[in-house]
Amino acid sequence: MLNLWYKNAVIYCVDVDAFLDTDGDGVGDFQGLADRLDHIEALGADCIWLLPFYPTPDRDNGYDITDYYGVDPRLGTLGNFVEFSNAARDRGLRVIVDLVVNHTSIDHPWFQASREGHPKYRDWYVWSKEKPEDADKGVIFPGVQESTWTFDRKRGEYYFHRFYKHQADLNIANPAVREEIQRIMGYWLQLGVSGFRIDAVPFIIEDLKKPGDGLTPYDYLTEMRQFLSWRRAEAIMLAEANVPMDQANDYFGDGDRLNLIFNFPLNQKLFLALARGDGRAVGDFLKGLPDIPLVGQWATFLRNHDEIDLGRLADDERQEVFAAFGPEKSMQLYDRGIRRRLAAMLGGDERRIAMAMSLMLSLPGTPVIWYGDEIGMGDNLDLPERQAVRTPMQWTPGKNGGFSSARPQDCVRLPIADGPFSYAHVHAMGQHVDPASLFATTQRLIRARRSCPEIGWGQPQVVSGTPASVVALLYEWRGGRVLTLHNLADSPVEIDCSHVVGDDAVRPMLQAGIDIDRASNHSRIRLAAYGYEWLRLEPAD
Ligand code: GLC
Repeated sequence: MLNLWYKNAVIYCVDVDAFLDTDGDGVGDFQGLADRLDHIEALGADCIWLLPFYPTPDRDNGYDITDYYGVDPRLGTLGNFVEFSNAARDRGLRVIVDLVVNHTSIDHPWFQASREGHPKYRDWYVWSKEKPEDADKGVIFPGVQESTWTFDRKRGEYYFHRFYKHQADLNIANPAVREEIQRIMGYWLQLGVSGFRIDAVPFIIEDLKKPGDGLTPYDYLTEMRQFLSWRRAEAIMLAEANVPMDQANDYFGDGDRLNLIFNFPLNQKLFLALARGDGRAVGDFLKGLPDIPLVGQWATFLRNHDEIDLGRLADDERQEVFAAFGPEKSMQLYDRGIRRRLAAMLGGDERRIAMAMSLMLSLPGTPVIWYGDEIGMGDNLDLPERQAVRTPMQWTPGKNGGFSSARPQDCVRLPIADGPFSYAHVHAMGQHVDPASLFATTQRLIRARRSCPEIGWGQPQVVSGTPASVVALLYEWRGGRVLTLHNLADSPVEIDCSHVVGDDAVRPMLQAGIDIDRASNHSRIRLAAYGYEWLRLEPAD
C-alpha cells in the first residue's frame, strides 16, 4: 500500500524564532516549540513545516544558510531539535523542514573557499568573468535588489544570485553539488523528518538548462525523488514553484517528481475573489485546473511568510486587490504584492476571516496554515519588507504576548503591542477556552476537512447556477459526496442546490446557522453575509 498521508493532511507552518522563547534571549527556540505542541495538536494540524532553522547571519530570515547540518545556536542545539521532533512524533505530528539549496549565504565556508579558487569548491557556484548583459533582469526583490550578478573582488569575477546579493546561487549543474544536496537530505531524513519544503524549485533547475544525455532539467527532480524514496518511503517534496498551471505537470512528472506544489495562481484568484466579493474568479480557475497524477497534490494556502504575490493577475485585477486589501504604499511590496496578514486585510471581521479560512480548506489540495492566522494575528508595517507578517506568536495578554521575558526591543521582532491586533486583544490563551473564538472555529473547520477525504483526493465540480458571490464545490470520491458553499459577499444569498442534492439527505458538517428549505426534490439554502457551510450528501433512508 502506498502511504499517501499528505493527500489528506493539514500542514501548520512555524518560524521557530517567533514561536516561544524559553531562555529569555528574545528569540524563540526548539524547546519553546516543543512546549507548545499542544496548540498545534489541538488545532488539528498533523504536519509541521519548519522555516529554516540552520546557522545563518539572518539577512533573509534564515534563507541564507552557513551550515546545512546544524541548528542556529539562538534556537537551540541539534539535541533540542531531536527532542522536539521526538515530542512531535509522540503526538502523531509529522515534521517537514525547509530545504534551501538554490543558494547559500555568501558567509558559507563553501562560498568563501570558492571565491579563493579552492580546487574542491571553485565550481560550486555560478561564476562569470564578464558581467552578463541581462544582469539587471529577473531580480526577485525589485526595489531592494539591483542585479542578479555581483562582482567579487577576491576572485575577480561575477557571481550569480537569483535573490539578494548575499545569497550566492549554488551551481546545481556540478555533480558534486548535487551529491552534497543528497547528503543534506539524507541527514535530515535520518533525524526523522518526513520530507522537505523545497525553496525556489524553478530556480534550482534553471542551471540545468542543457544537461545533455537527452535529459531535461526536470529529470533532476526525478533524481531527488528517487533518492528520497530509497531513504524513506513516506517522505515528501513540497515545492515552492510559482509556475503557471500548464507547467505544473512538468514538475509533478508521472508522479515520479514532486509530491506537492503550492498553488500560487489559485492563491491570487482567491484574493481577487475576496476583494470583489464575487466567487467567479475562483470557480473559473478551478474549472481549468489540469489533471495531475494520483500521487501529486496541490498545496493550498491563504497567507505565508512572504508577501502575497499578485504577479500573475492582470494589471487591473492586481489594482483591485491592492485597493481592497493594501491601499497604502507601505502595505505593498516588490511592485507585485501585499505584505499584510489575513486578519488585518479583512479588517478584523471574524465572519469574513472564518469564511476565508473555510473556503481555503475546501479547495482541492492540502491546506497549509501560517502560524498566528488561526487566532487572527495582525501585522507590523513598521518592520522592513516581509518581516511585517513574522511578528512573535501571541500567547497571552501579558508582556510581549507571553512570547518572551526579554525586553520588547530585544525580541527577534517587535511584538505587536498596540492597536486592535495587539496581544492584549488577540491571544491564544483566551481563544483556547472560548468556543466562539476564531481558534475554535478553525479547529472545527480542520476537523471537518480531515473527515472529508473527498476533498483531499477528489476533483471538485464547480456547481453552476449559484449567485455570483458564491463558490459552490461538489466533491465525489469513492461513493462519498460533499458540497461546500461559501458566500464571499456581505449580504445574504439564497442558493438553489436541487440539481446537485436531488433526494439525498443533507447533513451539515459545521452547523454555522444553516438554513435549508426542503420540499421534495427541491432544496434552497440560505447563507448569511460571509456565510458558509459544508454538507455531506447521503442517499435518503
Ligand atoms: C523563497 C522564500 C523566501 C526567501 C527566498 C530566498 O521565496 O519563501 O522567504 O526570501 O526563497 O531564499
